[in-house]
Amino acid sequence: MMTDQASRKFITEVLKFLKPEDTVLDLGAGLGKQAERFAETGALVTAVDKRTNPKVKNIIWHKIPVEDFISNENNKQKYQIIFSQNLLQFLNKEWVFSELLPWLNNHLEPGGIIAIKTFYQQSEPAFPEPLSSLYNADELQNFFNDYKVILKNQEEIIDSDMKGKIRKFFLTKLIVQKLLKAV
Ligand SMILES: C[S@@+](CC[C@H](N)C(=O)[O-])C[C@H]1O[C@@H](n2cnc3c(N)ncnc32)[C@H](O)[C@@H]1O
Repeated sequence: MMTDQASRKFITEVLKFLKPEDTVLDLGAGLGKQAERFAETGALVTAVDKRTNPKVKNIIWHKIPVEDFISNENNKQKYQIIFSQNLLQFLNKEWVFSELLPWLNNHLEPGGIIAIKTFYQQSEPAFPEPLSSLYNADELQNFFNDYKVILKNQEEIIDSDMKGKIRKFFLTKLIVQKLLKAV
């Protein structure tokens, strides 16, 4: 499977849970492709990316590092869906487990969905600047062990990178749902 296909398949899984007027947060939103898909359904979408600020309609865009976004204590907003595709590998893993994942848990509505796609191994051949953090599906899911698992898998795909070079990529995918009531 190609990375584009893998992305489409991943967001399709998440869209199944989306209801009109749900609040959605997309972390590391890039060019806003996935944020737009959410917004098209009538969802209220917030996107965060430290480098980009594309001209996308009906999306609240924050061009700031995710580290700054989550450290703003005035941000009490909760979301029905928190989506992050191809971001975690660029973040400090210790910070992800000590700060980011607890923040996601606190800012997710009961019944809400967290969807994370990242990598469990360096690509082959590896990029000249290796990915800084790698995650297997079990360790991410362990953090959300009181959530319902909707999708958890690791998958190898072969695709061309942004410069057209063919590489093998090792994807981790996790979609979990917060229970409506703590058990
Ligand atoms: C590989 S792209 C993925 C874009 C999009 N999620 C997608 O799947 O098409 C990674 C994005 O993460 C952003 N990014 C990297 N580190 C970040 C950080 N610390 N805070 C916010 N955004 C970051 C980059 O600017 C880039 O747009």
